[in-house]
Amino acid sequence: MPIAAVIGAQWGDEGKGKVVDYYASFAHVVVRFNGGANAGHTIVHKGKKFKFHHLPSGSLYPNKINVIGNGVVIDPKKLIEEIRQLQASNIHPNLVISPRAHIVLPYHFALDGAEEELKGGLAAGTTKRGIGPCYSDKANRIGIRMGDLLSKDVFRKKLHLLHQIKTKTLQHVYGKDFQYSEEQIYEEYCGYASLLAAYVADPVLLLQKTISSKKNILLEGAQGTMLDIDHGLYPFGTSSNTSVGGACTGAGIAPSRITHTIGVVKVYSSRVGGGPLPTEIFGKDADFIREKGKEYGTTTGRPRRIGWLDLVTLRYAAAINGFSGLAFTRVDTLSGLGKIKVCTHYLLDGKKLLFPPASYWDFEACKPVYKEFEGWTDLGQKGWSAVAKKGFRLLPQQAKKYLRFISESIGVPIYFVGVGESREDAIVLKEVFKRK
Ligand code: GDP
Ligand code: IMO
Ligand code: MG
Repeated sequence: MPIAAVIGAQWGDEGKGKVVDYYASFAHVVVRFNGGANAGHTIVHKGKKFKFHHLPSGSLYPNKINVIGNGVVIDPKKLIEEIRQLQASNIHPNLVISPRAHIVLPYHFALDGAEEELKGGLAAGTTKRGIGPCYSDKANRIGIRMGDLLSKDVFRKKLHLLHQIKTKTLQHVYGKDFQYSEEQIYEEYCGYASLLAAYVADPVLLLQKTISSKKNILLEGAQGTMLDIDHGLYPFGTSSNTSVGGACTGAGIAPSRITHTIGVVKVYSSRVGGGPLPTEIFGKDADFIREKGKEYGTTTGRPRRIGWLDLVTLRYAAAINGFSGLAFTRVDTLSGLGKIKVCTHYLLDGKKLLFPPASYWDFEACKPVYKEFEGWTDLGQKGWSAVAKKGFRLLPQQAKKYLRFISESIGVPIYFVGVGESREDAIVLKEVFKRK
């Protein structure tokens, strides 16, 4: 009865969608447990690109149960669009939405924009999907949940309260006129509720039954450990627990049940949004990686900042999450460079740091110390696909050396190596679920 969690080990966009898509083929249930439409998880299958924002990345398989857990914040309009897009490709995900998941409302989008404007240098450069304001209302116990939407009386009562609080805040604190009336929002969201009602059911019972019947569960994280609200680079991260603790609270799974925690590691760093990134690089190498890897945000289209791999934050992520294995992605993207660097530690005021400091101003002052590696040749798409079929042994020598160095430095074995976008372009060293 393995339960595996897939967690972003860096700053998001590590390639979690691809890793989840692979391991999901042997899972009975796949659960998204945090974040919302700020996430963009890409899966390339049979030459077609799918981008999921809410839907679990098991959604391409016809026979899986895909759960949107209580820890997710749902933009119902976007979710309906996602479901419809899949249906247009004749894919009908077997979806279960937790009645405990919170709903993103028009106030949240307006506040996300208004707050970011005021934050200046403290802005995280959010995706403007209303994530922070929605989680704030959840914590403040004035949020509206999926289950509330299904009861017209409850929805009306809660919306009435929220509308007063939010319109006053927007107007008097931020000087913004809010264009929606309470009635407009009520009607619009009742419409979404009627379209989503059929999917709403309590996943906790379903997950308990799945555990009792010894079937496999895959827990899909959004964002990455350095964006975690508690353990990430505050205030430049997101508003949910992106690390493995969030999988327990956001899905309703006991910590003792999780048997594997897979950390997804892009073999360099990328980041969208503000805040310090000690290993950031500019110029020729950064442009090479960004263009070759099409490193533009899946959700917002923003160019991603690029950096060398950072073992300080990775070591920390492995500790926080207790990674049992690493899933590397983008070995093909990093090919073709003469030299590749890895940050082994930081220097802060002359002191050696193996773990990142807690405060962003210290983080900003950290100087990365690098170890240099020879690069490896680009084998071309066909060459990488051939390597994927043949296994780890046939990776270029320098790439193996690089990956082994990372794995040994962190003390976590390699489970998976991505060498291309497609489902097949992966070398799997360790299955977490038994093949049937
Ligand atoms: P996620 O948010 O962690 O799921 O990652 P994104 O989907 O935002 O970004 C990862 C991008 O990398 C997507 O375009 C994937 O198709 C792509 N990708 C994932 N693994 C690999 C890999 O091993 N090689 C290449 N070339 N692309 C990959
Ligand atoms: P996936 O799941 C990369 C970043 C934003 C911003 C900060 C807060 O695709 O890896 P938010 O909208 O959450 O309030 O923004 O977090 N961010 C991500 N960066 N990948 C993501 O998701 C992200 N989700 C949020 O750029 O800096
Ligand atoms: Mg992404």
